[in-house]
Amino acid sequence: MSRLLEVPAAQVPPAGGRSLFRHEGKSLVLFNLNGELYAIDEGCPHNGASLFGGRLDGRLLHCPAHGLRFDLATGCVAGVKGFGVATYAVELQQGRCFIDLSRPRPQESIVCLQQQ
Ligand code: FES
Repeated sequence: MSRLLEVPAAQVPPAGGRSLFRHEGKSLVLFNLNGELYAIDEGCPHNGASLFGGRLDGRLLHCPAHGLRFDLATGCVAGVKGFGVATYAVELQQGRCFIDLSRPRPQESIVCLQQQ
């Protein structure tokens, strides 16, 4: 069953932007990379640093604390099996933006070993 969170229109970032928001005790960051939207947990799974201010290199987000690089699409860190930040599907429906909180990734079916 999906759990859709509607993102308020004012918090949908423009191309190249990002926004931080909270929902039911969860902190999420929404990125807009050239029109593609990606939602991830704000907290780095390594030691909890905020990923909101991380530097982007294409789709790779660098954690500002220790430099792990997360792929925004998968949440995975290159070369680290089974470790990554939770990501969520983002859906656009009739001009409204929703994040599906029921399907966080990486899931067991995603192997975090891709080369980047
Ligand atoms: S807290 Fe993010 S890499 Fe250590």
